[in-house]
Amino acid sequence: MAKSPVRIAVTGAAGQIAYALVFRIASGALLGPDQPVILHLLDLPPMQGALKGVMMELEDCAFPALAGMVATDDPKTAFKDIDIGFLVGARPRGKGMERKDLLGANAEIFTVQGRALNEAAKRTARILVVGNPANTNAHIAMKSAPDLSPDCFSAMIRLDHNRAASMLAGKAGVAVDAIEKLVVWGNHSPTMYPDYRFAEANGRKLAEIIGDEAWNRDVFIPTVGKRGAAVIEARGASSAASAANAAIDQVRDWVVGSHGRWVSMAVASDGSYGIPEGIMFGVPVTTEAGTVTRIPDLAMDEFARERFALTLNELKEERDAVAHLLG
Ligand code: NAD
Ligand code: LMR
Repeated sequence: MAKSPVRIAVTGAAGQIAYALVFRIASGALLGPDQPVILHLLDLPPMQGALKGVMMELEDCAFPALAGMVATDDPKTAFKDIDIGFLVGARPRGKGMERKDLLGANAEIFTVQGRALNEAAKRTARILVVGNPANTNAHIAMKSAPDLSPDCFSAMIRLDHNRAASMLAGKAGVAVDAIEKLVVWGNHSPTMYPDYRFAEANGRKLAEIIGDEAWNRDVFIPTVGKRGAAVIEARGASSAASAANAAIDQVRDWVVGSHGRWVSMAVASDGSYGIPEGIMFGVPVTTEAGTVTRIPDLAMDEFARERFALTLNELKEERDAVAHLLG
């Protein structure tokens, strides 16, 4: 029997990340080529012409799984009965800016969209926030949608996880998909803590294979943390294809399952690891059919505690800076 279609919203649908995202969703890279999808595409009124062009191209791909499209500038229409939402639409940073400098420009978008999700989305919807600063925007959307469970929301830290995995694979001389139990803690910002203390490849501890703690502290952590800025410097625009790829990876693992592998997701804290409830913090999880299980009780040494505190304090500051928007 044919599967019923899954409704997927993408905001910022005429932007550069969306241009690398919607074709992959429609091709089946997210849910498989036999799962029909209906795309709900949201962008601002002046972008509706460009959005029409994207839809023409989607039609011209003749994707068998693309069962329909809705284009709109109204968040409630975009989120009506959706199963999955990719909240991408927001301003990107330019050279010399930090992502949190975007809070002023972008925070309001996520109060409006959180309220619209509250009204219109399926109660089981799974919503990924990509627009920066992603963790705090996800916090805003979640708090603006009190009738949806906090479990409906996550922020994207998978790009950082993928960047870290790729760099580690190169350093250790192992295949990237051999790496297990890698963690990226905290905020999608330079304070994030990519942590391979628990990571393994081919049954060996990655830290033993690498055997170079100075590289970890002086090269690996800062390079992963500043990779977004390095891409902006090189490309003149923020990452798009790798961001879309990470969004697919994070949502596919979330709704389909990670099959026992640890993945990093920024989810609303349940209080574990001393993170105040509700802060969207990158943690290691396993996932199955939309359910996230946090990996508990990982040991922290002194350096890990310092890194953890740094990123947590930044997220607390960002939360306090937007508190006025949340009543
Ligand atoms: P872009 O400027 O190419 O596209 C953004 C799109 O969003 C535009 O079409 C714009 O019209 C639209 N938009 C703006 N406000 C909107 C609103 N209220 N409702 C609907 N659409 C709206 O930018 P991009 O390169 O696609 O990046 C989008 C966001 O993703 C930026 O904030 C960027 O910093 C962020 N980003 C996050 C990650 C991550 O890992 N979390 C990675 C890369 C980029
Ligand atoms: C990234 O990490 O590439 C994105 O968050 C874009 C940025 O501003 O760095």
